[in-house]
Amino acid sequence: MLRTTTCGALTIENLGENVVLCGWVQKSRDLGGMTFIDIRDRYGITQLVFNMDDNRDLCEAARNLGREFVIKASGTVVERSNKNLKMPTGEVEIKITALEVLNAAKLPPFMIEDDTDGGDDLRMKYRYLDLRRNPLRNNMVLRHRMAQSVRRYLDKLDFIEVETPVLIKSTPEGARDFVVPSRMNEGQFYALPQSPQTFKQLLMVSGFDRYFQIVKCFRDEDLRADRQPEFTQIDCEMSFIEQEDILNTFEGLIRTLFKEIKGIDLPEVPRMQYADAMRFYGSDKPDTRFDMRFVELNDMVKGKDFPVFDNAELVIGINAAGCAAYTRKQVDELTDFIKRPQIGATGLIYMRHNEDGSLKSSVDKFYNEEELKKWSDAMNTKPGDLVLIMAGTQDKVRKQLSELRLEMGTRLGLRDKNTYSALWVLDFPLLEWDEETERYHAMHHPFTSPKPEDISLLDTAPGAVRANAYDMVVNGTEIGGGSIRIHDRTLQALMFKHLGFSPEEAQKQFGFLMDAFEFGAPPHGGIAFGFDRLCSIFAGLDSIRDVIAFPKNNSGRDVMIDSPSAIDDKQLNELKIKSTI
Ligand code: AMO
Repeated sequence: MLRTTTCGALTIENLGENVVLCGWVQKSRDLGGMTFIDIRDRYGITQLVFNMDDNRDLCEAARNLGREFVIKASGTVVERSNKNLKMPTGEVEIKITALEVLNAAKLPPFMIEDDTDGGDDLRMKYRYLDLRRNPLRNNMVLRHRMAQSVRRYLDKLDFIEVETPVLIKSTPEGARDFVVPSRMNEGQFYALPQSPQTFKQLLMVSGFDRYFQIVKCFRDEDLRADRQPEFTQIDCEMSFIEQEDILNTFEGLIRTLFKEIKGIDLPEVPRMQYADAMRFYGSDKPDTRFDMRFVELNDMVKGKDFPVFDNAELVIGINAAGCAAYTRKQVDELTDFIKRPQIGATGLIYMRHNEDGSLKSSVDKFYNEEELKKWSDAMNTKPGDLVLIMAGTQDKVRKQLSELRLEMGTRLGLRDKNTYSALWVLDFPLLEWDEETERYHAMHHPFTSPKPEDISLLDTAPGAVRANAYDMVVNGTEIGGGSIRIHDRTLQALMFKHLGFSPEEAQKQFGFLMDAFEFGAPPHGGIAFGFDRLCSIFAGLDSIRDVIAFPKNNSGRDVMIDSPSAIDDKQLNELKIKSTI
């Protein structure tokens, strides 16, 4: 070892010890007779002191050190006269007797400080420097501790970690695949896994019984704050279980993580039917840190000659408690918010429940006080509350009001990052109608089993068939999802039929799985958590980017290594891919 200890370890207990430290120069202060250098490593910062009277050459050498030089410094631990009790090492400093520059450094393009002056692009280009900063380093440490905690929990329950291949054939999870050309098989491509779904099911057929893997998955989809083209799942599968067993086992995992990592006793996770989540919150991932449920108003608003409500399939409202005093300008802001193209609503109706008890709406022309009183009763308003109402087609208006509900939650400070609210959403629909392709798609994936009591509906009302599928939601983010699987060839073939596959297509793409089902497939099911999303929630971040050491930017690029990039003609020729340039 070049060093005897780290830059975060020395305290008053170590006075008089001779030590050797290695690290990076954080900053230096030259006070004429004395020079102070802060040396940093991943464990902390220690102050080095050089005295002109003790050793002139050493002091000169210290003065020549630049920011981020890598140095090795030897000396004695002494008590500081000017203590900094905010730092663990702040009561001591090292009186230096020898100094070696292990490597000089160019001036970094941004400050290596907790609050840096570097913009996003610059920090992504020099990500290895950004990772020297405490906030990012702490995220990486958090991620490591979470991964270890996951492994301990699952190992104790007899789960074994099995690695599945990365060069595979397309898995139908709904996104586009990243593909890799095969040199040895001209004109053919591997796909990178969107998840190890089929492999973990095959491992169940192999009898592994309880599998997990902390695994990279790849999806070629548009980026968002909670999406990266390559991301990590805690992927799990179990045999001889029912849905209840999965929910209990993995609720246990999440609660253990909260306890071990954040010291939080997460209460038992409530459960909600998908249909209720949509009805009450307009979302399959409701943020349950606050209530503000939707109230359906069709019964009391129709037939009063107000065309917007009369022509609407659904009229719904939320009660924004305490907002009756919103000014015209504030209400206009909300209207502008829902009219943005991303939300696409046409308008917002409101009713104030004034402090004096009177009710005043933006549609008083059509509704008298008595009618407004009905709204107030349905919405359970109190003096001081503001009711916000939207109207339209069922699907659209629910989504739009859901956005407004979240906005109101934010404005009212109801979405505190340090408050955690988890929820199981159960009984998702099996199939979802896709307008573009005009056919049904599997809402989760094609291996998800329908609820046995709904199978008969597959022919008559496919959209109404419920699946044994579940998601876990924390603070409005979907952190995991899974299902009980089909383990029977006939049912799997029926499922493919309903997804529009011919028997030949189904056999060609998924024959390997259906064949396996004929060799003794146990009943099985599982779940996968988005590990990056979990880490970002634990770190209190809005984006998953900073819990990933080397993420892609918003255009899916790694600007540090400049990827993706063109490859040369020789490579293209070998792969028998024609250059288009
Ligand atoms: P699903 O597609 O729901 O299920 O993915 C599981 C979880 O992975 C996370 N996730 C992502 N995180 C970051 N970036 C992305 N692009 C991204 N996409 C998904 C989410 C999500 O809940 N094979 C099934 C699981 C199963 O059935 O067992 C699957 O992959 O948190």
